[in-house]
Amino acid sequence: MCGIIGYIGFRKAPSVLIKCLKRLDYRGYDSAGIGVIDEKLQVFKDVGEIANLEKKVPIDKGTLGIGHTRWATHGKVTKENAHPHVCNNKKIALVHNGIIENFKTLREDLERKGYKFTSQTDTEVIVHLIDESYNGNLEDAVFSALKKIQGSYALAVVHEDEPGKLVGARRESPLVIGIGDNENFLASDIPAILSYTNRAVYLEDGELCSLTAQSISVFDDTKKKIEREETIIDWDIKDAEKSGFPHFMLKEIYEQPNAIYQTLQGRVFEREQSILFPERVEKLLTADFDSIHIVSCGTSFYAGWVGKYLIERLTGIPVIMELASEFRYFGVKKGSSLVIAVTQSGETADTLAAIRAGKNAGCQTLVVSNVIGSTATRIADGFVLTQSGPEVGVAATKTFTSQILVLFLIALKLAVLRNRIGLNEVYKYILELKALPKQLRQVLDRSEEIVEIANRIKGATSVFYIGRGVNYPLSLEGALKLKEISYIHAEGFAAGELKHGPFALLTEDTPVVAIATKDATYAKVLANIGEVQARGPPVIAVADDKDTEIEKHADFVIRFPSNGGLLSCIPIAVILQLLAYHVANLRGCSIDKPRNLAKSVTVE
Ligand code: AGP
Ligand code: GLU
Repeated sequence: MCGIIGYIGFRKAPSVLIKCLKRLDYRGYDSAGIGVIDEKLQVFKDVGEIANLEKKVPIDKGTLGIGHTRWATHGKVTKENAHPHVCNNKKIALVHNGIIENFKTLREDLERKGYKFTSQTDTEVIVHLIDESYNGNLEDAVFSALKKIQGSYALAVVHEDEPGKLVGARRESPLVIGIGDNENFLASDIPAILSYTNRAVYLEDGELCSLTAQSISVFDDTKKKIEREETIIDWDIKDAEKSGFPHFMLKEIYEQPNAIYQTLQGRVFEREQSILFPERVEKLLTADFDSIHIVSCGTSFYAGWVGKYLIERLTGIPVIMELASEFRYFGVKKGSSLVIAVTQSGETADTLAAIRAGKNAGCQTLVVSNVIGSTATRIADGFVLTQSGPEVGVAATKTFTSQILVLFLIALKLAVLRNRIGLNEVYKYILELKALPKQLRQVLDRSEEIVEIANRIKGATSVFYIGRGVNYPLSLEGALKLKEISYIHAEGFAAGELKHGPFALLTEDTPVVAIATKDATYAKVLANIGEVQARGPPVIAVADDKDTEIEKHADFVIRFPSNGGLLSCIPIAVILQLLAYHVANLRGCSIDKPRNLAKSVTVE
């Protein structure tokens, strides 16, 4: 789930490993550890912050090592369960992300053979299996161990008797090789190693790699050597830092005008009145499907749900929303559907499984992701990048609005391909799209007004969000943002649903955020606001700049710049993010690393 790092080269491995682990910090973790070979293998680990671990590492010697941040799946958060795990003669050390599904049987077998276990993790079986097969060649031993395990893994392994070698392998968990001069790296993701190198080689599922300081070798699961091209990563290391903002989340909220601009780059052509995608994607969109399934989790699910309204509105194609974790078991239908998976990281285990399930059922699959080279972009038939730069805050912000934007572009493209709209209308939408960055800057300039409202709701025990149409999934997202970073209970509802039960919870201490846009349901939303107020709670309306009526109905109003159309969902999303951020900040919460959460949920 969390992070892996491996280093072989000429620098002092403990310092390199700690530095790289700190860069993986944002993925969320509960304990950390490193293993270094300096003649003898030495392992240091602890629960809590990497800074705790750093203080407890007494050496800065050795030029080969592995490191790990753990997000426990099997066994409590204890020092014993932290990685690296070592074999009984303490010569092999291993770090692992993922879950070994058959670990119980393997553990029983190994215990019968006399192996002693020191942790409750699923991971520990791997190191004993490697030890059991070891015959002087670490790659061979790892190959045979991997044959026996079921489940997901990214791993890095070292052996005291082979101090010039670092071995890695992956299946359904991310792992990338970083290439340097006389040094090489293994990492779960690019930001971990960017300060050392921007040259990467992605490992595919089932592959194993063996690194020395001067060389890298990649093997498929039959031990056949494969040639793999390098990818040059053009993310600046600064992109992955806070640039003066108190939190990554706030920085990323403020990056949205640029993220939206970047997402439009190379895709929207005003003069030609056209939307352009890579050939593979155009081919997928041109195919003859009669419905679309959108599969995703969390915030990406709500972006997908906004996308459903946009696609149905512009194209008339029915869109079925499916949580990825449900779709893979209950949602897959054989037939002519296009499956669109929305995933910021491209590594969410449930979403990857949903893509695979869709493919197995014969559907074409299209991924909307922020991470090029991520598993999702590699297993799907085509992908569109959100192009919003790395997102570090656990709470998704800029990727949410970029996902909506990409789905809007897909809707527009489909509408053109199916002759649902004319060029004039495309032109009108392109102008609206191009106006978005400026509108978002206007919203950001009003941050202080939002702080005032945040001050009024920071003490609430429960906050409701309501909206109709596209504002319904926005309400769900607004509530998710608030609960995940401020720990205030929050729920989103379709505005018409409150009276069917949730009303029972309304008191004067339950502020209600009502999204009121000037569409066909406006009058109904005003009526819903009235029903709420009659029961005592204060209402905060999120409304169009040009709305002159709303003040008479709501207790407080937060305005978004009028764009009169489908795209107002994007400025509204930014308002809801700022509201959640300021409430959490006023409550002194750990905004970038909310309790119990991880940025990338790579286990089922
Ligand atoms: C967002 O704020 C959450 N942290 C979470 O719901 C997230 O959107 C979800 O885990 C899906 O992640 P993905 O987009 O990387 O697949
Ligand atoms: N399943 C392993 C454990 O619980 C690895 C968890 C992780 O990926 O951090 O230790």
